[in-house]
Amino acid sequence: MSHSKILITFLAVFFVLGINSSEAEEAIKKRIAPVGSVCIQGQDCANAVAAAAPISSALRTGEEIYVNACTTCHSIGLAGAPKFADASTWGVRPDKGIAALTMSVKNGLNGMPPKGMCMDCSEDELSSAVQHMLDSL
Ligand code: HEC
Repeated sequence: MSHSKILITFLAVFFVLGINSSEAEEAIKKRIAPVGSVCIQGQDCANAVAAAAPISSALRTGEEIYVNACTTCHSIGLAGAPKFADASTWGVRPDKGIAALTMSVKNGLNGMPPKGMCMDCSEDELSSAVQHMLDSL
């Protein structure tokens, strides 16, 4: 074999291997690609999510939260719960202030389960539900 033939063979083998290895690399990349991907707000991929977000994350009013989650106990004073629109059952509780009262709801207090059983309520929503109750007094 002449030197040039050896060189051409060598180059041909190198070329083929080169292609194969990049194909293999692609295949591996596909195989180890994450199943899902994280979408960060502000990125293009986040737009589809952001468009739907306001519906589910829109703040519900204090009244809505109260009616849906708190009324069971607070309308009739179940388990010693201070009653809606009945200041005599509240005693000095309102003096604790909205922040402390909201914390009581968030963490639960004796007969009141954490979040007043409104598991999907945000802290802001709990706070406005408390405010709605205070407004009734
Ligand atoms: C399972 C019954 C129950 C539910 C549901 C419930 N509460 Fe209560 N809540 C209670 C009881 C009982 C107390 C009195 C706890 C105590 O002081 O021993 C209480 C106390 C409170 C207090 C006074 C806390 C304090 O620090 O004195 C606030 C404010 C309050 N609830 C708000 C809410 C809100 C808002 C919701 C709905 C998101 C809610 N509760 C749902 C039973 C309930």
